[in-house]
Amino acid sequence: MPLDTYYTLGRSGLRVSRLSLGAMTFGTEWGWGSDKHNARRIFDLYVERGGNFIDTADVYTNGTSEAWLGEFVADAGLRDRLVLASKYTFNLGDRNANGGGNGRKNLLRAVEGSLKRLGTDYLDLFYVHAWDQLTPAEEVMRTMDDLVSSGKVRHIGLSDVPAWYAARAQTLAEWRGFEPVSALQLQYSLVERNLEHEHARLATELGMGITVWSPLASGLLSGRYRKDAAPEGRLGVMKDNGNPAFQHFSERNWRIVEELERVAGEIGRPMAQVALNWVANRPGVASVIVGASRPEQLSDNLGALDFELPAALAERLTRASDMPAPFPYYFFTNAMQGMMYGGATVGDKPAGYRAPVRVSGSGSGVE
Ligand SMILES: NC(=O)c1ccc[n+]([C@@H]2O[C@H](COP(=O)([O-])OP(=O)(O)OC[C@H]3O[C@@H](n4cnc5c(N)ncnc54)[C@H](OP(=O)(O)O)[C@@H]3O)[C@@H](O)[C@H]2O)c1
Repeated sequence: MPLDTYYTLGRSGLRVSRLSLGAMTFGTEWGWGSDKHNARRIFDLYVERGGNFIDTADVYTNGTSEAWLGEFVADAGLRDRLVLASKYTFNLGDRNANGGGNGRKNLLRAVEGSLKRLGTDYLDLFYVHAWDQLTPAEEVMRTMDDLVSSGKVRHIGLSDVPAWYAARAQTLAEWRGFEPVSALQLQYSLVERNLEHEHARLATELGMGITVWSPLASGLLSGRYRKDAAPEGRLGVMKDNGNPAFQHFSERNWRIVEELERVAGEIGRPMAQVALNWVANRPGVASVIVGASRPEQLSDNLGALDFELPAALAERLTRASDMPAPFPYYFFTNAMQGMMYGGATVGDKPAGYRAPVRVSGSGSGVE
């Protein structure tokens, strides 16, 4: 699947590559990432291969990510062809109570900052970076809608939000005529599958494309980390900082890495490509945001959709990374559905949209 095959994002008319480029690694301010020379080579490689979807945020590397990205886009003369996505929520460190969070005052301040650093007069996609637990969805959606009307933002997205909040925001958009949410950006990989409880179904039902972050669990799923070796790379730098996004060394995860290595060996592909291929083909996923701190990594990862992962191998990875369904989600497993439908096969969506429920036997039949 070459990068220059584009798909519409959510229910919007915006066409994006199935592999997007993550620019969080542009800059070394956080103790990892790439210098400017390598960041430019990463950018060049991605756009040369036909990629059009690039993800950044105001907070990444304290603004360097946006600034370098803006420079690379301008030098390449590609603003019109590229889909630039950025995000706001985080306070940039000026001890200003309204300099962070999702309220209108910060939203309008933040968008101006992103436009300035990126050297552009519009963002193709602007996300709430994370739920702030305070600002009503009405305020966010109304302000985002104003930004779309003003032309500063083309489409809107939500990242790292509870499913109920995204559902409320989208319903408000539908009923009040606001610009709808086109993208839901969430962490998803073989070792982090919690979005399957709610968000995947939400996204497909309400027309939001999932854009996946940390698809390799910050590099764990490339196979470069070994259980008995001192970690180098990003996960080594971040191992004691307490941020759950970077704490991936656990017995469960090592078992998943072992199965991934076996599957990758059987199909003769690098582990990173297999892990990216698996996540790209999960229900609800619109685009996988690929991270790299070196061009060679990106070159490797951009081959992730050039092959079909046989269903039996994908299933082995799914099983190896399965997690128990907590309440109330165990009510939606085949065991409980069997009790509802008494052995009938029930499916109300076209094939390929989501799997129909198949139950065998009657009563508590389990498949
Ligand atoms: N919305 C959010 O809250 C959120 C959060 C995080 C990220 N994001 C977005 O998602 C993007 C991707 O996230 P991510 O960077 O965490 O993705 P990732 O693919 O999970 O991790 C990328 C890192 O894995 C290592 N790596 C990648 N390919 C490799 C290969 N072929 N061989 C060996 N190592 C390899 C590199 O680590 P080293 O640098 O150590 O070499 C690279 O920096 C970000 O750029 C950002 O745009 C969003």
